[in-house]
Amino acid sequence: MTVDFSDRYGPWALVVGASEGVGAAYAEALAARGLNLVLLARRQGALDEVAARIRAITDVETRTLVVDLTASDAAASVMAALADLEVGSLVYCAGADADYAAFLDHPVTTAEAMIQRNCTVLVQLCHAFAGPMVARGRGSIVIFGSGSGFAGTPRLTTYGATKAFDMVFAEGLWAELKPLGVDVLGLILGETDTPTLRRTRHRLGLAASLEERPPGSARPESVVADALAHLDRGPIRMPDRKVRLGSRGFFPMGRKRMAAMMAKATRKAMEPR
Ligand SMILES: NC(=O)c1ccc[n+]([C@@H]2O[C@H](COP(=O)([O-])OP(=O)(O)OC[C@H]3O[C@@H](n4cnc5c(N)ncnc54)[C@H](OP(=O)(O)O)[C@@H]3O)[C@@H](O)[C@H]2O)c1
Repeated sequence: MTVDFSDRYGPWALVVGASEGVGAAYAEALAARGLNLVLLARRQGALDEVAARIRAITDVETRTLVVDLTASDAAASVMAALADLEVGSLVYCAGADADYAAFLDHPVTTAEAMIQRNCTVLVQLCHAFAGPMVARGRGSIVIFGSGSGFAGTPRLTTYGATKAFDMVFAEGLWAELKPLGVDVLGLILGETDTPTLRRTRHRLGLAASLEERPPGSARPESVVADALAHLDRGPIRMPDRKVRLGSRGFFPMGRKRMAAMMAKATRKAMEPR
């Protein structure tokens, strides 16, 4: 099982947003399956702790990479730092909105930074890594979405729109890459017990302390186990049952069928018969 997994999705994985929470849990699960890890986030100390945990339980190689994804040269820095590695798995996790602020409460640069981190750099890294994956006929790309991407909502206006982008991008990319041997999964999360969610709830007065677990939230480890069990069953997976049930109300046809119908209609309109 371990050999199959690392042959198909290794030898290296890049986890974007690996310093804590569900990204760190994802990195640890990939390490347990024999993949070498590049751990990317902004905080070196937190990345070092994750790398040390991985080294304590596995013999895989780890590298840490400090990049702020809102910087305009973020993707170029990542590509330069990983030029010598064969990356068989890209996990794009970073992307939450801890602000819960109205659109006009911040300068437009705040929204632009969200789009840069959640959409632009994601697209740039997918483009850079998917080409070599296709040439090898194997690999995987996991893109983190959110139930907030199902419809627009106040105070999450730009965030929700980026998450809608992430979901639709994952669906299109899945349809293009699956026949070429590369698995793409749009992972649509509901409330998940991450440090970002705890900090946000505490700041908003919804939790008395950071020790308080968000009620009804999923554990990062279960989200990751569910995602890995569905890695080759894209385009979309919703690990949280509440989100799955909600999505059935929003999209009674199901996202997979919607995407297939859209692909058919687009082919009919755009391609010669
Ligand atoms: N938690 C939930 O309830 C929930 C619900 C729905 C969807 N999601 C989705 O799940 C994903 C993970 O969410 P999360 O709650 O763990 O929070 P998050 O704030 O997205 O943090 C995840 C990781 O991303 C890194 N990161 C954040 N901004 C970054 C930046 N500008 N540059 C580089 N790294 C950055 C963080 O580390 P550093 O701070 O060290 O940079 C951390 O390691 C997101 O895509 C989110 O949209 C989460």
